[in-house]
Amino acid sequence: MTSAEASGTADGVRNLHEALAAITEHWQPHRLTSVNDYDVKVVKLQGEFVWHSHPDTDELFLVVSGQLTIQLRDRDVILNPNDVFVVPRGVEHCPKATKEAQVVLFEPVGTTNTGDAGGDMTTELRELG
Ligand code: NI
Repeated sequence: MTSAEASGTADGVRNLHEALAAITEHWQPHRLTSVNDYDVKVVKLQGEFVWHSHPDTDELFLVVSGQLTIQLRDRDVILNPNDVFVVPRGVEHCPKATKEAQVVLFEPVGTTNTGDAGGDMTTELRELG
């Protein structure tokens, strides 16, 4: 499968805002596209996630709309639209959004949303319709 095919459209073009608009569930990542061995995911976040870390990978957050607080054990990182933050591998974090935040994630293929924590919030990456 080529990268263009992986993006899910005949011409390889995906629209970020259309992708986010199609998502109805909070905390459910969907694959926007892939680049090499990374997935570019879109997700809507509201409420508080679970504390977890990813022992094998950094995790990039790009906020599209709303406000996302990434709680770290020693500080809170507040992200507004167009802000980008990378949680280093192995660092415990817990995302929280008082109101809905629309977010893009860059992670290696196969990265689990709850990292090493597991539990009820663990979910498989979904394809966009
Ligand atoms: Ni994470």
